[in-house]
Amino acid sequence: MLTGAGISAESGIKTFRDADGLWEDHRIEDVATYDAWVRNSDLVMEFYNQRRKQLYEVIPNAAHYALVKLESKFDVYIITQNVDDLHERAGSKNILHLHGELKKARSTVDPNLVYPIEGWELKKGNLCQKGSQLRPHIVWFGEPVPAIIDATSLAQEADILLVIGTSMLVYPAAGLINYVHDRAPKYYIDPKATPMNYVRNLKVLNETAGKAVPSLVEELLNNNL
Ligand code: APR
Repeated sequence: MLTGAGISAESGIKTFRDADGLWEDHRIEDVATYDAWVRNSDLVMEFYNQRRKQLYEVIPNAAHYALVKLESKFDVYIITQNVDDLHERAGSKNILHLHGELKKARSTVDPNLVYPIEGWELKKGNLCQKGSQLRPHIVWFGEPVPAIIDATSLAQEADILLVIGTSMLVYPAAGLINYVHDRAPKYYIDPKATPMNYVRNLKVLNETAGKAVPSLVEELLNNNL
């Protein structure tokens, strides 16, 4: 399973690249790069504080819950590009966050020091145990994606792949589909999904996640596919 911002859209979280998406109002180079953090950490912190604040106001939707149901019959692994915690709150067991997590902060001197953020606000002066300022635990543009190694192994072992609500424009996440076996059935659920002709055994469902995921899950559980 590879999920993107579109699976959380019906919970009320904006996607990045849709018409009213986050990157319409904010320039990536102002809020989502390490350079931006060095130049203006207040602005970067505020951007993610607002995202985190909003996260407390939304709840998982039918698509998140449907993926939990799938666990009654399948070993389900969710690789998500999302930094929200809606898969966790819906109850999914195995979740790999490729791009970090909004509700965590990490040290600016030791990337292994990661802490939960209490409440919605990360502030100047919040320090790690080594005394350095904490930053959002987010993979910014241009930064390495450490979880891609485990994600690639999961993709190689997958018997079925669901790709849900992602523009498939951001790498290395978008490249994961190439590691899934040619024989494995693949489903791409996104109202704007276009066929990827280089991918074998791919079925494109141009529908919203809230509608298409629950019915696809029912079909997979009932073996109708
Ligand atoms: N159901 C399913 N898909 C939807 C829905 C919906 N209700 N609403 C929108 N979408 C789709 C859009 O059609 C689009 O293809 O969700 C996709 C969102 O694409 P992006 O905004 O590019 O989000 P994503 O693919 O997750 O972005 C990848 O880019 O900026 C970075 O780090 C950020 O993790 C993010 C990465």
